[in-house]
Amino acid sequence: MKFHVMTLFPEMITQGLSNSITGRAMEKGYISFDAVNIRDFSKDKHHKVDDYTYGGGAGMLMQAQPIYDCYLSLVDNNADKKPRVIYVTPQGQTFNQQMAADFAKEEELLFLCGHYEGVDERVLEEIVTDYVSIGDYVLTGGELPAMVMIDAISRLVPGVLNNDESALTESFYNNLLEYPQYSRPEEWMGKKVPQLHLSRDHTNVHQRRLAHQIQRTKHRRPDMYERYMIENPPKPEKPKRRRKKKNSTTDSEEN
Ligand code: ADE
Repeated sequence: MKFHVMTLFPEMITQGLSNSITGRAMEKGYISFDAVNIRDFSKDKHHKVDDYTYGGGAGMLMQAQPIYDCYLSLVDNNADKKPRVIYVTPQGQTFNQQMAADFAKEEELLFLCGHYEGVDERVLEEIVTDYVSIGDYVLTGGELPAMVMIDAISRLVPGVLNNDESALTESFYNNLLEYPQYSRPEEWMGKKVPQLHLSRDHTNVHQRRLAHQIQRTKHRRPDMYERYMIENPPKPEKPKRRRKKKNSTTDSEEN
Protein backbone atom coordinates (compact mmCIF):
# COMPACT_ATOMS: atom_id res chain seq x y z
CA MET A 1 0.00 0.00 0.00
CA LYS A 2 1.34 3.39 -1.02
CA PHE A 3 0.26 6.53 0.83
CA HIS A 4 0.92 9.97 -0.64
CA VAL A 5 0.22 13.00 1.51
CA MET A 6 -0.14 16.48 0.03
CA THR A 7 0.65 18.87 2.84
CA LEU A 8 2.30 22.13 3.87
CA PHE A 9 4.05 20.31 6.74
CA PRO A 10 5.65 17.16 5.34
CA GLU A 11 7.97 16.71 8.36
CA MET A 12 4.93 16.27 10.60
CA ILE A 13 3.84 13.27 8.55
CA THR A 14 7.26 11.66 8.19
CA GLN A 15 8.10 12.11 11.85
CA GLY A 16 4.69 10.92 12.99
CA LEU A 17 4.62 7.74 10.93
CA SER A 18 8.26 6.64 10.98
CA ASN A 19 8.03 5.06 14.44
CA SER A 20 6.38 2.05 16.01
CA ILE A 21 4.32 -0.29 13.86
CA THR A 22 3.96 1.98 10.82
CA GLY A 23 7.73 2.61 10.87
CA ARG A 24 8.46 -1.12 11.02
CA ALA A 25 5.92 -1.81 8.25
CA MET A 26 7.62 0.73 6.06
CA GLU A 27 11.08 -0.76 6.70
CA LYS A 28 9.74 -4.18 5.78
CA GLY A 29 8.11 -2.82 2.64
CA TYR A 30 4.46 -3.56 3.48
CA ILE A 31 3.60 0.13 3.18
CA SER A 32 5.30 3.24 1.88
CA PHE A 33 4.48 6.88 2.25
CA ASP A 34 5.72 10.10 0.82
CA ALA A 35 4.77 13.51 2.12
CA VAL A 36 4.86 16.08 -0.65
CA ASN A 37 5.11 19.78 0.07
CA ILE A 38 2.37 21.69 -1.77
CA ARG A 39 4.47 24.85 -1.42
CA ASP A 40 7.04 23.35 -3.84
CA PHE A 41 4.41 23.71 -6.57
CA SER A 42 3.62 27.37 -6.00
CA LYS A 43 4.24 29.64 -9.01
CA ASP A 44 4.39 32.68 -6.77
CA LYS A 45 7.84 34.22 -6.34
CA HIS A 46 7.42 34.11 -2.55
CA HIS A 47 6.08 30.53 -2.67
CA LYS A 48 2.71 31.73 -1.44
CA VAL A 49 -0.03 29.08 -1.51
CA ASP A 50 -2.96 30.99 0.01
CA ASP A 51 -5.00 34.10 -0.72
CA TYR A 52 -8.05 36.06 0.45
CA THR A 53 -11.51 34.64 -0.28
CA TYR A 54 -13.80 36.25 -2.84
CA GLY A 55 -16.69 37.98 -1.09
CA GLY A 56 -14.67 38.74 2.01
CA GLY A 57 -14.71 36.78 5.21
CA ALA A 58 -12.02 36.05 7.73
CA GLY A 59 -8.94 34.04 6.93
CA MET A 60 -7.07 32.84 3.91
CA LEU A 61 -7.89 30.06 1.52
CA MET A 62 -5.47 27.55 -0.04
CA GLN A 63 -5.33 28.21 -3.77
CA ALA A 64 -6.20 25.67 -6.43
CA GLN A 65 -3.08 25.79 -8.64
CA PRO A 66 -0.34 24.57 -6.24
CA ILE A 67 -2.58 21.75 -5.03
CA TYR A 68 -3.52 20.67 -8.54
CA ASP A 69 0.09 20.68 -9.73
CA CYS A 70 1.11 18.72 -6.64
CA TYR A 71 -1.62 16.19 -7.47
CA LEU A 72 -0.45 15.96 -11.12
CA SER A 73 3.08 15.19 -9.92
CA LEU A 74 1.70 12.13 -8.10
CA VAL A 75 -0.76 10.63 -10.56
CA ASP A 76 -0.83 9.77 -14.20
CA ASN A 77 -3.80 11.82 -15.35
CA ASN A 78 -4.20 9.64 -18.44
CA ALA A 79 -4.33 6.38 -16.53
CA ASP A 80 -7.64 4.47 -16.60
CA LYS A 81 -7.74 4.00 -12.87
CA LYS A 82 -6.83 6.99 -10.76
CA PRO A 83 -6.16 6.59 -7.04
CA ARG A 84 -8.72 7.70 -4.48
CA VAL A 85 -8.02 11.15 -3.11
CA ILE A 86 -9.10 11.75 0.47
CA TYR A 87 -9.63 15.32 1.57
CA VAL A 88 -9.48 15.39 5.36
CA THR A 89 -12.06 17.87 6.54
CA PRO A 90 -14.50 18.27 9.44
CA GLN A 91 -17.18 18.47 6.72
CA GLY A 92 -16.58 14.87 5.66
CA GLN A 93 -18.09 11.54 6.54
CA THR A 94 -16.89 10.37 9.96
CA PHE A 95 -14.06 7.86 9.70
CA ASN A 96 -14.64 4.42 11.21
CA GLN A 97 -13.23 0.89 11.17
CA GLN A 98 -15.36 -0.14 8.20
CA MET A 99 -14.00 2.76 6.13
CA ALA A 100 -10.45 1.84 7.19
CA ALA A 101 -11.05 -1.71 5.95
CA ASP A 102 -12.45 -0.40 2.68
CA PHE A 103 -9.47 1.94 2.07
CA ALA A 104 -7.04 -0.87 2.99
CA LYS A 105 -8.11 -2.71 -0.18
CA GLU A 106 -6.63 0.02 -2.40
CA GLU A 107 -3.09 -0.15 -3.76
CA GLU A 108 -2.53 3.56 -3.46
CA LEU A 109 -4.18 6.44 -1.57
CA LEU A 110 -3.67 10.20 -1.74
CA PHE A 111 -4.45 12.47 1.20
CA LEU A 112 -4.95 16.20 0.92
CA CYS A 113 -4.36 18.15 4.13
CA GLY A 114 -5.97 21.56 4.31
CA HIS A 115 -4.90 24.57 6.36
CA TYR A 116 -6.04 28.12 6.96
CA GLU A 117 -9.77 28.56 6.30
CA GLY A 118 -9.96 25.77 3.74
CA VAL A 119 -9.29 25.06 0.09
CA ASP A 120 -10.61 26.59 -3.14
CA GLU A 121 -13.67 24.49 -3.96
CA ARG A 122 -12.75 24.10 -7.66
CA VAL A 123 -9.67 21.98 -7.03
CA LEU A 124 -11.62 19.82 -4.60
CA GLU A 125 -14.26 19.20 -7.28
CA GLU A 126 -11.51 18.29 -9.72
CA ILE A 127 -9.50 15.78 -7.69
CA VAL A 128 -11.23 14.64 -4.48
CA THR A 129 -13.06 11.31 -4.34
CA ASP A 130 -13.69 11.06 -0.57
CA TYR A 131 -14.35 13.74 2.06
CA VAL A 132 -13.48 12.30 5.46
CA SER A 133 -13.51 13.70 9.01
CA ILE A 134 -12.10 12.14 12.17
CA GLY A 135 -14.79 13.59 14.42
CA ASP A 136 -17.01 16.54 15.18
CA TYR A 137 -14.35 19.01 16.27
CA VAL A 138 -12.06 21.35 14.36
CA LEU A 139 -8.28 20.93 14.30
CA THR A 140 -5.74 23.44 13.02
CA GLY A 141 -4.91 21.35 9.96
CA GLY A 142 -5.37 18.05 8.19
CA GLU A 143 -2.03 16.43 9.10
CA LEU A 144 -3.14 14.80 12.36
CA PRO A 145 -6.38 13.44 10.84
CA ALA A 146 -4.41 12.07 7.86
CA MET A 147 -1.97 10.34 10.24
CA VAL A 148 -4.84 8.88 12.26
CA MET A 149 -6.37 7.43 9.12
CA ILE A 150 -3.08 6.15 7.70
CA ASP A 151 -2.33 4.40 10.99
CA ALA A 152 -5.76 2.74 11.13
CA ILE A 153 -5.59 1.69 7.45
CA SER A 154 -1.97 0.44 7.64
CA ARG A 155 -2.65 -2.03 10.43
CA LEU A 156 -5.20 -3.72 8.18
CA VAL A 157 -2.71 -4.20 5.35
CA PRO A 158 -1.69 -7.89 5.30
CA GLY A 159 1.69 -8.43 6.99
CA VAL A 160 1.75 -5.16 8.92
CA LEU A 161 0.67 -6.71 12.22
CA ASN A 162 2.12 -9.88 13.62
CA ASN A 163 -0.21 -12.53 15.02
CA ASP A 164 -0.29 -11.21 18.59
CA GLU A 165 -1.06 -7.71 17.46
CA SER A 166 -3.69 -8.74 14.96
CA ALA A 167 -5.83 -10.20 17.75
CA LEU A 168 -6.68 -6.61 18.54
CA THR A 169 -8.38 -6.11 15.21
CA GLU A 170 -11.50 -7.70 16.63
CA SER A 171 -12.62 -4.46 18.27
CA PHE A 172 -15.31 -2.72 16.27
CA TYR A 173 -15.62 -5.40 13.59
CA ASN A 174 -18.78 -6.85 15.01
CA ASN A 175 -19.95 -3.75 16.88
CA LEU A 176 -18.41 -5.00 20.11
CA LEU A 177 -15.57 -3.64 22.25
CA GLU A 178 -12.74 -5.85 23.45
CA TYR A 179 -13.17 -7.83 26.67
CA PRO A 180 -11.05 -6.71 29.68
CA GLN A 181 -7.57 -8.25 29.88
CA TYR A 182 -5.05 -8.69 32.71
CA SER A 183 -1.34 -9.38 33.07
CA ARG A 184 0.98 -10.15 36.03
CA PRO A 185 0.92 -9.77 38.99
CA GLU A 186 -2.15 -11.68 40.02
CA GLU A 187 -2.87 -9.03 42.65
CA TRP A 188 -2.08 -5.32 42.26
CA MET A 189 -3.05 -2.60 44.73
CA GLY A 190 -5.45 -5.04 46.37
CA LYS A 191 -7.18 -5.80 43.05
CA LYS A 192 -7.20 -9.42 42.02
CA VAL A 193 -7.38 -10.76 38.50
CA PRO A 194 -10.91 -12.17 38.20
CA GLN A 195 -11.04 -15.94 38.68
CA LEU A 196 -12.41 -16.41 35.19
CA HIS A 197 -9.12 -15.20 33.70
CA LEU A 198 -6.98 -17.43 35.94
CA SER A 199 -8.88 -20.60 35.24
CA ARG A 200 -7.14 -23.14 33.05
CA ASP A 201 -10.49 -24.45 31.97
CA HIS A 202 -10.78 -23.38 28.36
CA THR A 203 -14.26 -24.71 27.79
CA ASN A 204 -16.68 -22.03 26.71
CA VAL A 205 -13.91 -19.40 26.77
CA HIS A 206 -15.34 -17.85 23.65
CA GLN A 207 -18.81 -17.66 25.18
CA ARG A 208 -17.53 -16.10 28.39
CA ARG A 209 -15.41 -13.53 26.57
CA LEU A 210 -18.32 -12.66 24.36
CA ALA A 211 -20.50 -12.12 27.44
CA HIS A 212 -17.86 -9.66 28.76
CA GLN A 213 -17.68 -7.90 25.42
CA ILE A 214 -21.44 -7.49 25.31
CA GLN A 215 -21.59 -6.16 28.89
CA ARG A 216 -18.79 -3.68 28.31
CA THR A 217 -20.23 -2.45 25.02
CA LYS A 218 -23.69 -2.03 26.55
CA HIS A 219 -22.21 0.06 29.36
CA ARG A 220 -19.65 2.16 27.44
CA ARG A 221 -21.08 2.40 23.94
CA PRO A 222 -24.86 2.01 24.00
CA ASP A 223 -24.96 3.15 20.34
CA MET A 224 -22.75 0.21 19.28
CA TYR A 225 -24.68 -2.17 21.53
CA GLU A 226 -27.90 -1.20 19.81
CA ARG A 227 -26.39 -1.99 16.41
CA TYR A 228 -25.00 -5.27 17.72
CA MET A 229 -28.44 -6.30 19.00
CA ILE A 230 -30.05 -5.44 15.66
CA GLU A 231 -27.48 -7.54 13.80
CA ASN A 232 -27.51 -10.34 16.38
CA PRO A 233 -31.07 -10.57 17.69
CA PRO A 234 -31.50 -13.02 20.55
CA LYS A 235 -32.46 -16.42 19.22
CA PRO A 236 -36.05 -17.33 20.06
CA GLU A 237 -36.08 -19.91 22.80
CA LYS A 238 -36.87 -23.39 21.61
CA PRO A 239 -40.30 -24.42 22.82
CA LYS A 240 -39.90 -26.95 25.60
CA ARG A 241 -41.02 -30.37 24.59
CA ARG A 242 -43.77 -31.55 26.83
CA ARG A 243 -43.37 -35.03 28.09
CA LYS A 244 -46.24 -37.13 27.02
CA LYS A 245 -48.24 -38.46 29.93
CA LYS A 246 -49.53 -41.89 29.63
CA ASN A 247 -53.10 -41.92 28.21
CA SER A 248 -52.95 -38.09 27.70
CA THR A 249 -54.81 -36.45 24.81
CA THR A 250 -53.01 -34.64 21.99
CA ASP A 251 -53.24 -30.82 21.60
CA SER A 252 -55.61 -31.14 18.70
CA GLU A 253 -57.81 -33.42 20.64
CA GLU A 254 -57.89 -30.92 23.49
CA ASN A 255 -59.01 -28.08 21.23
N1 ADE B 1 -9.29 19.25 9.69
C1 ADE B 1 -9.61 20.01 10.75
N2 ADE B 1 -10.38 19.36 11.60
C2 ADE B 1 -10.59 18.12 11.08
C3 ADE B 1 -11.32 16.97 11.49
N3 ADE B 1 -12.02 16.95 12.62
N4 ADE B 1 -11.30 15.89 10.71
C4 ADE B 1 -10.61 15.92 9.54
N5 ADE B 1 -9.92 16.95 9.10
C5 ADE B 1 -9.90 18.06 9.86
